[in-house]
Amino acid sequence: DTKVYRINERDEEKIKEAAEVIKQGGLVVFPTETVYGLGANALDEVACKKIFQAKGRPQDNPLIVHVASFDISKYVKYIPDKAKILMENFWPGPLTIIMPKSSLIPDVVTAGLDSVAIRMPENKLARKLIEFSGVPIAAPSANISGRPSPTSIEHCIEDLYGRVDMIIGGERCRVGLESTVVDATDEDIIILRPGFITKEDLEEVVGKVFVDPAIKSEDFKPKSPGMKYRHYAPKAPLKVIKGDTQKVVEYIKENVYNMKRQGKTVGVLIVDEIMDKIDADIKVSLGSIKDPGTIAANLFDKLREFDKTNVDLILSIGFKEDGLFSAIMNRLKKASGNNLIEI
Ligand code: TXA
Ligand code: MG
Repeated sequence: DTKVYRINERDEEKIKEAAEVIKQGGLVVFPTETVYGLGANALDEVACKKIFQAKGRPQDNPLIVHVASFDISKYVKYIPDKAKILMENFWPGPLTIIMPKSSLIPDVVTAGLDSVAIRMPENKLARKLIEFSGVPIAAPSANISGRPSPTSIEHCIEDLYGRVDMIIGGERCRVGLESTVVDATDEDIIILRPGFITKEDLEEVVGKVFVDPAIKSEDFKPKSPGMKYRHYAPKAPLKVIKGDTQKVVEYIKENVYNMKRQGKTVGVLIVDEIMDKIDADIKVSLGSIKDPGTIAANLFDKLREFDKTNVDLILSIGFKEDGLFSAIMNRLKKASGNNLIEI
C-alpha cells in the first residue's frame, strides 16, 4: 500500500520517515521545482531497478541523480571546468549536468553509459529528503512512461498509487517542465533537453552553447536516450498549429467545424488572448501569451485535463521558439508525436 503525506518542507518528521524508506531500498515520490520525481537510493541497484518497473520505463533510458551538496566527487570521475561553472551559477535549480561517471554509480542508473546526469534541485523538501537519506536519489519524473509529467501530487497519485511505497508533497511545481539537460562530458556544452534554463542563460556564463540536432529534427539520433520516445502524451490525438495568430485562429475554427460535422468532439488548447475568438466543445487556456512562465507551469496539467473528457482530437496553438517557448514547444511537439502544422 502507498502512504500519501500532504506535507511541506517544514514537516521534518514525515520527511525523515520518507528518508527511511529510501534508505531501506523503497520508492518515494517527492516534489521538485520542475516536476515530481520517483526516487530511490541512487547507489542501490535493486532499488533503482524498481523505478523502471513502477513507471514502465524502458531499461535503456538513464536516470538523473539528485544531490543536496556540491561535493559530488564520489559520483563522477572528475568535474569538467565548464560543468563547475554551471553548477556554481545554476545549482540549486532546474539544470541537469552530464559528467563522466564513477564506478560507485550502478549501471542500471546510467543505462550502461559511462556518464551520469546530476542535478541539485532548488525545492527545499526535495533537498531535505536527500540530506536525511544520506545518499543521492535517482529519480525520473513520477509519471507512467509516456504520460504527461506530473506537476501536482494528484497527477502522481493518478499514475503511481499502489506502485510505490510513499508519495509526499502537495505544492504545485513552480517551473512545470523538466530540467534543462546539458552534456558537459566534452569541451563544448550541448543542450540535450531544453528547459526553464535557456540557451541564452547558459551562454551568459560559459560562452557558446550547442543544441543537440535531434531536438530540432527527427533525422538525427538523440544523445539523450529519453528524447527518442513519444512523451507527455494525452490520450486523444494532439495536433499543434503554429504561425501567424490570425491564421491559426482561422485554421482551428475551420477544423473544429469540420470535425463537428463528422460528429466528433474537439478540444482546443489555446491562450487567454484568443479564448473569445474560438468555439469548441472543450476550450482550455494555458494562460496569457505574454507570460511564458505560466504557460510552462500549466502545460502538463492542462494536457492531462483533456483525459477527463471524451474529446476525439485536441488542437493546440504553437509558439515561436525562443527563450522559454523553445522548451514549451519541445514538449508540445513530443506530446503530439510531431504532429505539427506550420501555416
Ligand atoms: O526536472 C527533471 O529533470 C525531473 C525531476 C524529477 O528532477 N526528472 C526528469 O527525469 O525529468 P527523466 O528521467 O524523466 O528525464 C531524464 C532525462 C532523459 O531524457 C534521459 O535520457 C536523460 O535525462 N539522461 C539521463 N542520464 C543521461 C546520460 N548519462 N546521458 C544522456 N542523457 C541522459
Ligand atoms: Mg520523464
